[in-house]
Amino acid sequence: MNILAQYGIRGTSASEVVTSVEGAIRDGRLAAGTTLPTVRALARGLGISPTTVAAAYRALRARGLVHAQGRRGTRVSPRPPLPIRPLAPAPAHLRDLSRGNPDPALLPSLRAALARLPRRPGLYGEPANRPELLALAARQLARDGVPHGSLAVVGGALDGIERVLQAHLRPGDRVALEDPGYVAVFDLVAALGLVAQPVAVDDDGPRAEDLTRALRAGVEAFIVTPRAQNPTGAAVDPSRARQLRAVLARHPEVLVIEDDHAGPVAGAPAVSLCAGRERWALLRSVSKWLGPDLRLAILAGDPTTVARVEGRQSVGTGWVSHLLQDLVLALWSDAATTALLRRAAEAYAVRRTALVRALAAHGIGAHGGSGMNVWIPVPEEAPVVAALAEDGWAVRAGERYRLRSGPAVRVTTATLAPRDAGRLAAALARSLRPERRRASA
Ligand SMILES: Cc1ncc(COP(=O)(O)O)c(C=O)c1O
Repeated sequence: MNILAQYGIRGTSASEVVTSVEGAIRDGRLAAGTTLPTVRALARGLGISPTTVAAAYRALRARGLVHAQGRRGTRVSPRPPLPIRPLAPAPAHLRDLSRGNPDPALLPSLRAALARLPRRPGLYGEPANRPELLALAARQLARDGVPHGSLAVVGGALDGIERVLQAHLRPGDRVALEDPGYVAVFDLVAALGLVAQPVAVDDDGPRAEDLTRALRAGVEAFIVTPRAQNPTGAAVDPSRARQLRAVLARHPEVLVIEDDHAGPVAGAPAVSLCAGRERWALLRSVSKWLGPDLRLAILAGDPTTVARVEGRQSVGTGWVSHLLQDLVLALWSDAATTALLRRAAEAYAVRRTALVRALAAHGIGAHGGSGMNVWIPVPEEAPVVAALAEDGWAVRAGERYRLRSGPAVRVTTATLAPRDAGRLAAALARSLRPERRRASA
């Protein structure tokens, strides 16, 4: 079929071609992963110069809508930053272990905390950050033995990562990312026009040799999840932390961003690689322990980084709603929450360990040293996901969480009772049997 008819791309200027491709992505004519026509083919089809099409593709790449894949051409990004259809919920008859959510039963109740909030309406002109919230965060970070430097409040870990990246990097810059790693970080990095440089992860965190290689390739920043790594559950142990600090010390200019998204329910001690560095940021999100809908994280960092983030915030959204800041303060400073967090951390550890052990009993190796996910390497992802669905379980194919690493599936164990872990492990073992894999091939 004629490529113009196939994709409906039009335009005589670069900006018209950009708008047309964007429209085709938005309404689903150009699905994620689709290969775009070559520059020459599109130029010929539209009767315009290849320079114009190349400029349009460059603009689309800088916004992360498409990416270049060497000889395989230019493709639509896996999750372009446009309002496209969200992931369909798992069918109601499946037990959904695909979503990465915390257990709602292990989040503190908002009702009592809401009743304690100040009653007067908030107005313009108040300081951006509640000093009591920052003081509480500083005490907690100090107690955890991680640096706290300057502090600010941002709209969640991802918002903080975005703001910190934008404070220092420009499109085309390279960023070292954990592989496997968190898909939303991959998508964010692509949307900012940055280039991902994979760093392999094992159970103790990013591998030092791989980080060395990425730093030699000229990365400007390194994003690391020190504990509860998503999807592998890796947690950086003291010996790995020493190695990584030594590697990073040879590159003092590199920005290090630590994504401590699970904080006190991670099931592993806090650890930081940032002490004494020039440019650093640590994000402690409240999503996994107070609730994802609070959309709040504490940003700690060097004075320049935090000032840039706050300055940019001040000419944009202004501040993170004081209603949310007060609610987080009320919840975080409540003794009942402290007790609940201890119980939650234990429950998450028991649940993920139960699945790792049940899988081991079937001879299946799996990773899940901390956090809420278990990562299970498999020969092929799709047949395992399909076979588990037949058995009543929804799990996530690992593909979107990988850059160069091998196939796997991710199971979120946050709500998986240990008594159910055996059934899931047995279903997974069945899905890996050769006769079943042949049948589904
Ligand atoms: C590694 C990682 N970072 C960040 C987040 C999200 O954090 P936030 O909700 O604060 O943006 C998640 C959520 O699952 C995560 O797995």
